[in-house]
Amino acid sequence: FEVVWDASAAEKGGWSSFMAKEVSEEPEAVANTVRGRIHDGVVQIPELDGLDEMFLGINRIVVVACGTAAYAAMVGKYALEQWTRIPVDVELAHEFRYRDPVIGPDTLIVSISQSGETMDTLMAVKYAASRGAKTLSICNTQGATIPRESDAIVYTHAGPEVAVASTKAFVAQITALYLLALHVARLRGSLTAAEIAVNAHELEAIPAKISEILATEQTHIEQFAHWMADTRSVLFLGRHVGYPIALEGALKLKEITYIHAEGFAAGELKHGPIALIEPGQPVFVIVPSPRESAELQKKVVSNIQEIRARGARIIAVAEAGDAAVLPYADEVLRIPLAAPLFEPLLAVVPLHIFAMGLANAKGLDVDQPRNLAKSVTVE
Ligand code: G6P
Repeated sequence: FEVVWDASAAEKGGWSSFMAKEVSEEPEAVANTVRGRIHDGVVQIPELDGLDEMFLGINRIVVVACGTAAYAAMVGKYALEQWTRIPVDVELAHEFRYRDPVIGPDTLIVSISQSGETMDTLMAVKYAASRGAKTLSICNTQGATIPRESDAIVYTHAGPEVAVASTKAFVAQITALYLLALHVARLRGSLTAAEIAVNAHELEAIPAKISEILATEQTHIEQFAHWMADTRSVLFLGRHVGYPIALEGALKLKEITYIHAEGFAAGELKHGPIALIEPGQPVFVIVPSPRESAELQKKVVSNIQEIRARGARIIAVAEAGDAAVLPYADEVLRIPLAAPLFEPLLAVVPLHIFAMGLANAKGLDVDQPRNLAKSVTVE
């Protein structure tokens, strides 16, 4: 009798892959990123103590990142702008510095990087600093190069992420951006203490809601992914904060299943992408909550009707109890109720599970997809 010690299996803690383990850790990634930064509804990030002047002196924020982190940035823009009333741009790090951007001492450059070593992002930060801008790094790796090169750091506490495709770091990055937005809103008085407390409470409630999705929907989504194993192309539609989630859903599918996938802003459908719809085409639609954005929901439901009439197979990601999509959806993936800005932290979870389930169904290595690296340290 011989006990074979498999170090990699041990590190996976009984999960079939690092990605499976890391998706299961999405609730903790959010909870650990929030920990110590919210006290009785007051959002204060201790690492930013002493930097009040910097946050009071800026009149523009540019968020730079690559890959999944850039989609977290796009989600964060909605909250940052709404809560701080500071104009926010999001730019792919590798595009940013080659176009002579208008930045200066009153610009805050927020970089987002799981590894903290992505060369494109590092070069954007260095370029911004050389032009006198302030720099803040949102990073998951203590002591990495990008945080060391930045004026301020807000760490995400997702824990080490091993699978090449980013999952738990993504939800932690959105969490960190929301905390930053609420921290700055308090300093600048752009939200009242009561408004900050409401949003802080929403954020604190997210981990349990993600756990609920994992507990109630994971098996169903994995089964569904198995049925879809032969699909050759998948489209994703979203609007408002659902738009970057559509992009992230498509990216994850490309990365680990090698299936053609595209994400679109739902409103853009009629300006081009609708030409792609033919009978049987699977389309994921991130449906906004009808409670606070009834108008948005109506528009998205009418998009669904249009593509459904052309034969699309609709997979709706919709909040629990929302019946508006039922007549048009072939499949509904449910998420718990949350305020609109917080829906992305929930809606992305079924998409991560779906991509992983489909890659598994195709017998692919979900942790190490072909041609990709976890950390890209060349420009
Ligand atoms: C690589 C990875 C992606 C990741 C991107 C940004 O392309 O394959 O999963 O989103 O880099 O990485 P970072 O470490 O900067 O977040």
